[in-house]
Amino acid sequence: MRKALITGITGQDGAYLAKFLLGKGYEVYGTYRRISSPNFWRLQYLDIFHKVKLIPTDMTDQSSMQNALYISLPDEVYHLAAQSFVESSFQTPHSTGEITGLSVVAILENMKHIKPDAKFYFAGTSELYGFSGIPKGKALTENDAFKPMSPYAVAKLYGYWITRIYRDGYGIFAANGILFNHESPLRGLEFVTRKIATSVAKIKLGLSDKIVLGNLEAQRDWGYAPEYVEAMWKILQQDMPDDYVVATGETHSVREFLESACNHVGFDYEDYLAIDKELMRPLDLPSLRGDYSKIQEACGWSPKVKFKELVELMVDEEIERWRMLLSGRTFPWDAPNYPSERGVIVRNGGNGR
Ligand code: NAP
Ligand code: GDD
Repeated sequence: MRKALITGITGQDGAYLAKFLLGKGYEVYGTYRRISSPNFWRLQYLDIFHKVKLIPTDMTDQSSMQNALYISLPDEVYHLAAQSFVESSFQTPHSTGEITGLSVVAILENMKHIKPDAKFYFAGTSELYGFSGIPKGKALTENDAFKPMSPYAVAKLYGYWITRIYRDGYGIFAANGILFNHESPLRGLEFVTRKIATSVAKIKLGLSDKIVLGNLEAQRDWGYAPEYVEAMWKILQQDMPDDYVVATGETHSVREFLESACNHVGFDYEDYLAIDKELMRPLDLPSLRGDYSKIQEACGWSPKVKFKELVELMVDEEIERWRMLLSGRTFPWDAPNYPSERGVIVRNGGNGR
């Protein structure tokens, strides 16, 4: 049975990837951070909490990552853990650098000694392009320049290049996905798509009367997260490691997302919109659109769920969740979730299972 280690298994992508790999017959290990109330709701939502093996790991501690590798001895490592919210990275630039950037070398360096034949995936991002100076609307490829414009993107730039260095310098199968924005009902509430979806659902059910947003003109290439985790896996199934853009090839503004979400439930968005200047970032990428032809050709991957379907499925799911809450039912994924002995590793031993 093949074994995979997913860092950041409690996040949107980590949870979907775990589900996908379990479906492929993998034994799935995942790291989570030890906090007083661990955050396993996504694993419960997908009904895989008891099917994955969880390892408490600190992304700023070399020995902790070493431990995760010794316990799992993986064939594939998916390094997804990160401080992933661009806006927060302006308030926490130093720790974002440590968690999102330096953790990458910590894992690769440990892999070099413990499991050099494991394949490594790094969660690169379209934020890398930043001030690329490329004409608005051009679809970005693997060959376009990176000129990051947030502390988050700078940290990811380090991760991207150190991944290439371990590939070229040490022969590790180390690959970068350059993923454009991807969303789902499991998205964190702080990201604009889920924020809009939940705000629209609350208005629809009479629980709120406004949607507060920042920059409406930013354009993003938004895809559907469950499809993007399949792309990660495909990238590691190639004969040679490489870097791939994963995107839909379309771009839409935040305003369009809002308008589509409101239209779906029969509202005019202008009746509910409030702009808060505090939500504007010191720097914000005006537009992103990706060209996925390389991954399509090499791995046979292409996006299926496009913009309108994505908006609608997110809004529908939020309405369903708020209806459940209003009717006094608890979410099925709100069951007690503290690590139990079933399927969960809580010990810190460093010598395998
Ligand atoms: P996410 O939902 O924010 O998940 C991030 C994961 O990292 C969570 O498991 C989180 O743990 C963990 N994490 C955060 N801070 C940590 C810390 N200090 N120590 C240990 N773990 C920590 O992000 P996502 O959307 O799944 O994205 C997965 C990866 O892809 C990230 O690296 C992100 O930067 C990258 N990416 C995402 C997109 C996108 O559009 N979603 C696009 C390109 C690249 P908690 O659950 O405890 O918070
Ligand atoms: N979060 C948020 N909240 N964003 C807002 C808001 C708001 O109220 N109003 C407008 N926006 C704009 C942001 O300024 C940004 O231009 C756009 O909506 C998207 O913001 P986010 O959803 O926070 O995502 P992101 O594009 O900054 O970053 C996401 O995608 C990257 C890939 O391009 C994250 O998932 C990153 O981790 C990922 O690398």
